[in-house]
Amino acid sequence: MNVLGIETSCDETAVAVYSGDRGLLANRVFSQIALHAPHGGVVPELASRDHIERLLPMIEAALADAGLQPQVIDGIAYTAGPGLIGALLVGATVARSLGYAWGVPVIGVHHLEGHLLAPALEPDAPEFPFVALQVSGGHTLLVEVGGIGDYRVLGETQDDAAGEAFDKTAKLLGLGYPGGPALAALAETGTDGVFEFPRPMLDRPGLDFSFSGLKTAVVVAVRGRTQDERMRADVARGFESAMVETLVTKSLRALHQTGITRLVVAGGVGANRRLREALARAVTDAGGSVHFPRPEFCTDNAAMIALAGHARLAAGEHEDLTARARARWPLDELRAPGKGVASL
Ligand code: KG4
Ligand code: ZN
Repeated sequence: MNVLGIETSCDETAVAVYSGDRGLLANRVFSQIALHAPHGGVVPELASRDHIERLLPMIEAALADAGLQPQVIDGIAYTAGPGLIGALLVGATVARSLGYAWGVPVIGVHHLEGHLLAPALEPDAPEFPFVALQVSGGHTLLVEVGGIGDYRVLGETQDDAAGEAFDKTAKLLGLGYPGGPALAALAETGTDGVFEFPRPMLDRPGLDFSFSGLKTAVVVAVRGRTQDERMRADVARGFESAMVETLVTKSLRALHQTGITRLVVAGGVGANRRLREALARAVTDAGGSVHFPRPEFCTDNAAMIALAGHARLAAGEHEDLTARARARWPLDELRAPGKGVASL
């Protein structure tokens, strides 16, 4: 089965083609970062409009990359949520229309299911079950993944996502948008211990996160002080250390609680060098293993949507012609492919 995947839930327009026999045949991503950067964050209306302009040409290009004519596409998978509702509706409407025109089934995929299954795009995919640490600009959660459609959210952020906290702190230090990578680079030159920030919720049991207090601690630390390069580097270092320690401790706790030994790390913050090294060390020491899918499969992409959609379409799931999208969609509502009603 050849599945066309479409992802438009936020600020990336992405299109991929995934074949059940041959794997990933095309994978295109267009990032809107330059469009939103002057505004210091994603502007939903601008995002929707740009998706409209780019999506159809990108589908044509992806089909050309795969060397396939539309006639041999057997199904279409699009991200139906969660995400920005206007942006989601662009992908939903295009997917439905093409499905109708080509006479093939269409399925709405949960964006996080895509992220959780993305490791399967790698040749050395981790076996189920595993614990996934999903850390991006929009999400921060720990999920027990028992198999396709078998997800148990172990903990999630009560306020800001980890990437959001990186970006907001970077903004405070005048590092532009999205500032996560710049803040990480600055932290490389900073000294540990000059600024000690709180490790949010580490003293409490459970696996939830909270990062707004950490951001406030940074605000308080820099308030009224002249920000020279040295001081900014030390603040960045202190912030990153607090973030890394929190994420590592909770991930270990999740492995311990579930008795699972495999950890999969996904999302943009998973690119952070110190986080990767600390996780690798801590999990290996605890007798487990860590998997980092390659960066293009960790950040938003349509390959993961095509793969997840393929699993569901191949199991006979399909929907009527309504273009569906949900801004909010609890992951726990999903079921195994072919088992029960579509949960959209
Ligand atoms: O998964 P992702 O590409 O996209 C969305 O969330 O939409 O994640 C982007 C987030 C941003 O907040 C960015 O600042 C953060 O990941 N990020 C990093 C690093 N690289 C990207 N944060 C910390 N250290 C990094 N090296
Ligand atoms: Zn995402």
